[in-house]
Amino acid sequence: MARDMSIVVAVVMMMVMTTTTTLGLKCQKTGLCSCKAENGTIDLSPLAVNGSARFKDQPGPDAPYVYSWNPCIPFTEGGSCNEVAVCLKNNDTNDYYNLGFPSSANFFTWPDDGRLSLQYMVGGGDGNIKVSSIDLVCNPREEGKLEAHGKTSVGFYSFQLTSRYACVR
Ligand SMILES: *[C@@H]1O[C@H](CO)[C@@H](O)[C@H](O)[C@H]1NC(C)=O
Ligand SMILES: *[C@@H]1O[C@H](CO)[C@@H](O)[C@H](O)[C@H]1NC(C)=O
Ligand SMILES: *[C@@H]1O[C@H](CO)[C@@H](O)[C@H](O)[C@H]1NC(C)=O
Repeated sequence: MARDMSIVVAVVMMMVMTTTTTLGLKCQKTGLCSCKAENGTIDLSPLAVNGSARFKDQPGPDAPYVYSWNPCIPFTEGGSCNEVAVCLKNNDTNDYYNLGFPSSANFFTWPDDGRLSLQYMVGGGDGNIKVSSIDLVCNPREEGKLEAHGKTSVGFYSFQLTSRYACVR
């Protein structure tokens, strides 16, 4: 438990340091789902839909939980996911949990392996922070595919987007 919390704290600290790390592909946020790298830009807005989530109720490894994400444009699902970017739903009980508002979007490069992630952070009423971290994988032949990897440590939810729009262009 204490170890997991320190992982969350470390992640939050690394997010703060994003603009100074020099490892991997650095991408400066230019919008709610776009960023500018040294040699081009990433813009996920072609994936966004208006009125729902582009990736809705994706099962993870942790049934009965399912995950929804929409880049750029907020969506509303259930009572607790109001104008959010990421939503967690218990598919058995129909409880919904906000995993991040679009405005909290941040592009983060992992110092260990250079992965680029789009991250959202939200503080709960209980003072616990939840982070949603979406690894961006460039594949020119894939329109858009989201894998939900579930809650990989306390307060930390991992995803992987494989998409042509995750490519620097
Ligand atoms: C989404 O649709 C609503 C209702 O049609 C509209 O008012 C709003 O401007 C749209 N938002 C975006 C970002 O396109
Ligand atoms: C969620 O629940 C609905 C309705 O009970 C069911 O049809 C659907 O298959 C469930 N999805 C997952 C991923 O468990
Ligand atoms: C930009 O640089 C990255 C990392 O060096 C590389 O993977 C990518 O292909 C480059 N993109 C363009 C459009 O040159």
